[in-house]
Amino acid sequence: MKKHTLSQLGARAEDSPISWLMKAALDRPELISLAAGFTDNATLPLKITREILDGILGSSSKGRSALQYGTTQGDLTLRRLTARRLYSLDFPEISPENPPVSSYSAGNIVVTNGSQQFLYLLSEALYDPGDLILVEDPTYFVFLGIAKSLGMHCRGIRMQADGIDIKHLEEQLEGLRKSGEIRRLKMVYLVSYFQNPTGRNTTLEKKKQALDLVRRYESHAGHPIFLLEDAAYRELRFSGAPVASMLSLDPHQERVIYTGTYSKSFATGVRVGFGVVPDSLLSTILRIKANHDFGSPNLLQKLMVEVLTGTQYESHLQAIQRRYLRKSRVMLSVMKKSFPASVHWDIPQGGLNAWVVLPRKWRTGLKSRIFKESLNQNVLYVPGNLCYAEDSGRRKPDHEMRISFGSASEPDIREGIRRLGRVFSKLQ
Ligand SMILES: Cc1ncc(COP(=O)(O)O)c(C=O)c1O
Repeated sequence: MKKHTLSQLGARAEDSPISWLMKAALDRPELISLAAGFTDNATLPLKITREILDGILGSSSKGRSALQYGTTQGDLTLRRLTARRLYSLDFPEISPENPPVSSYSAGNIVVTNGSQQFLYLLSEALYDPGDLILVEDPTYFVFLGIAKSLGMHCRGIRMQADGIDIKHLEEQLEGLRKSGEIRRLKMVYLVSYFQNPTGRNTTLEKKKQALDLVRRYESHAGHPIFLLEDAAYRELRFSGAPVASMLSLDPHQERVIYTGTYSKSFATGVRVGFGVVPDSLLSTILRIKANHDFGSPNLLQKLMVEVLTGTQYESHLQAIQRRYLRKSRVMLSVMKKSFPASVHWDIPQGGLNAWVVLPRKWRTGLKSRIFKESLNQNVLYVPGNLCYAEDSGRRKPDHEMRISFGSASEPDIREGIRRLGRVFSKLQ
């Protein structure tokens, strides 16, 4: 007799470290969590949201329409506002009234329950067990959970300070061509803005090179290879120059898939995200979305319409950008004082995370002395090895950590980093 009756997918699905890390932060109030992917609590837009919801529910026609089911693809006004916003982020100098390219059409946008649902829908649309995906090394670990449960095989592309190592992407593609495995390669996944976990930003030049390379290798695959740009942190830029998205490089939107979210830039609890999908995938994604939920919550979409129509979005965004700049600077300055010289990190220009690289002989994984000692000191970080795909082509690095300045208060950031510094000093 079998021990369980689970599907293969059910059996493959593993506990996500994100659930554990978020729960640990909520269950142990004394814990300083530099791990959880929460945003800053104090700047959540309580007043704006209350006023807008009062406005919507105070009008019987608006209120009734918001409390009714919507459409599978999502609210048309929200999709139009989103298309226009993407366009003006990519082409700030050109009027958004007449976009000269078709990649910014509301018709190609699907509103989802956070961008996380979009990542799942897309993976369901494209992947059979055993198919291949190229991901950044390291990458967003919740995406790795999707890959694992759907039986996708990941290969890592090394990262540099300005995005993926293009030479390594080419080597990987060439290796797959030679082995014939390229026929199972469907997509390259890049978290291109203030990446989770490293905080790194991919340059436009690298985006272009990646797109050119992938198009060059497509003939060997015998089918399109898509580039998925995950821009979850794009709007949390607090320094450095803006970078256009890959949509700007694919004028008829044939190969670039883009996903964004209002979770980070407005409110994580609202969870309104979206995908911008090429025509060739749109109806499939919509059919799968219909099977999931035939549409994301209408009330929350109407809320986002009002937020984006007024001036509140922009002012809220500026406030949180200033806040994260400040918190990141506090974190970096205490790291400089408290961490030994053998520990290194990048200076993030946006997002919620800093990536800390320790000497190779120091382990940071869940079973390591550093992790246990940090927990004893009531401080939590994300072990770097959770962010690496299972890739037999290399050993998983185990000497890095993601520390977030998103949710912890400034005093907690200072104290948490000092405690980590004390843990490190015992290893010297
Ligand atoms: C890189 C990345 N993509 C997507 C998401 C999903 O966010 P949401 O579903 O709230 O839009 C996250 C959340 O942390 C993320 O870090």
